[in-house]
Amino acid sequence: MTTKREGRFSEADASVRLGPTRQLIGGEWVDGVDGRTLAVECPANKRVIASIPRGSAHDVERAVVAAESAFAAWRRVTPSVRGRALLRIADDLEANHETLARIIAHETGNALRTQARPEAALCADVFRYFGGLGGELKGDTLPLGDDILSYTRREPLGVVGGIVPWNAPGTLSSIKIAPAVCAGNALVLKVAEDAPFTALFIAEVCQRHLPPGVVNVVTGLGPECGAALAAHPRISKMSFTGSTAVGRSIVAASAERIVPVSLELGGKSPAIVCEDADEDWVVQGVASAMRFTRQSQSCTAGSRLFLHRSIYDTFIEKLIALMGSYRIGDPLDEATDVGTLINGKQFGRVCGYIQDGLDNPAVKLVAGGLPPKEGPLSAGYFTVPTLFASASNQWRLAQEEIFGPVLVAIPWSDEDEVLRMANDSHYGLAGYVFSRNTARAIRIAHEIDSGWVQVNQGKGQIMGQPYGGFKQSGLGKEMSLGSMLEGFSRLKTVTVNLAL
Ligand code: NAI
Ligand code: MG
Repeated sequence: MTTKREGRFSEADASVRLGPTRQLIGGEWVDGVDGRTLAVECPANKRVIASIPRGSAHDVERAVVAAESAFAAWRRVTPSVRGRALLRIADDLEANHETLARIIAHETGNALRTQARPEAALCADVFRYFGGLGGELKGDTLPLGDDILSYTRREPLGVVGGIVPWNAPGTLSSIKIAPAVCAGNALVLKVAEDAPFTALFIAEVCQRHLPPGVVNVVTGLGPECGAALAAHPRISKMSFTGSTAVGRSIVAASAERIVPVSLELGGKSPAIVCEDADEDWVVQGVASAMRFTRQSQSCTAGSRLFLHRSIYDTFIEKLIALMGSYRIGDPLDEATDVGTLINGKQFGRVCGYIQDGLDNPAVKLVAGGLPPKEGPLSAGYFTVPTLFASASNQWRLAQEEIFGPVLVAIPWSDEDEVLRMANDSHYGLAGYVFSRNTARAIRIAHEIDSGWVQVNQGKGQIMGQPYGGFKQSGLGKEMSLGSMLEGFSRLKTVTVNLAL
């Protein structure tokens, strides 16, 4: 249906220099205690990239012990000195930018040019941002009179746990490691079994600039290795990014021990286009918000498109043209815009949603559809940007997070009506509003029940802005100074009687 062009396919694996393939515990690269392994598949060709240890509760225990031992000294290192270590990590990541980008593209299936290189650059930005914030781990003095000195101080939490998914493994690992380490904690990070090598490479870079045991990485399956970390009695905080279902189990595990949790979960974010915005830059903004060049495997994807009825047909025409212009193919090819989904499970899920749309007489497929069954794209988990025109915000494809390139366009005529539909979701992560009337767009932005709303653009996260969802999209913020202070340190008050 679209005029999709298939990219070239090459034997590009040789151009990828993989880093470590084992776990990092106490500064050593180690196999799993139980000796089991997991194969990691390249989603573009379904070949095995390499194996990783299938870590278990035994590996988590070893990593926690190593982190506890490192924490005793790391907490006493002056914050500005800790920050300088992060700045050196940022420089080192920058020096290894292309290597990191190629690992990201190879293991995630995200295209090198449109996605993996920007992500590799963001990793360095994350370490540089938090590296400059050591001095902000400060307290206040309270004005209680000359005879009392009462002040607050920021302390690290201890050994913190992080669990990350596969969709942006570099960014997401970096935004757990950097603030945790800057604030004086030691970390045990459980990386995604589908995309572990990006995080292991970043950990190797960190290891060159940090004492052993400050950053530890375990690899393995969620229910075995991740659940053991989330339930570990000596983990003082869990930071999780992934699905809402697993997020719920992380909260349940934390309730046993009353430890803080931060969660960055799914989304089904609205993109609202007003009647005065039937323009090419808006079409670009909507496509960018939908993250088509990441195969829409993004929690902030603007996957519910609310188009004003008066421009519905003309806007859709322009969007179809743009969606058909993407070059889908080998993630490592410079010419590729759109790569592959991560694995067979996600591929099956996304195809299931598309089939559901095809079977629904109330909606119309206007672009894309099921992936090709033959040709070069059938060698991997490639999908085609897909658009369904629908009248309803209620059907399954407009309510559930698809995590694939399936966009649903819903018409609206009245502002109250569109806001009601936009907010009719148990998610509340992001939102997008497009209008030439900025005052009106801002008014709409304020009414959207989401943690991050963009007006007249659909871009990615920027370091420094508090990022996190409302409702079932999460708890707490990331990527900002406040996220480090509130998420990775604790505030103590000390009151001293001076009237002796
Ligand atoms: P997932 O939530 O199962 O996996 C994310 C991470 O959690 C991985 O490291 C995994 O090993 C770990 N994990 C899984 N089960 C666990 C458990 N019981 N205890 C502790 N850790 C556990 O996500 P999955 O299965 O990869 O994707 C399923 C859906 O989740 C996607 O279709 C998408 O809707 C959503 N998702 C959302 C993400 C986001 O950025 N908000 C990222 C990835 C997935
Ligand atoms: Mg899962």
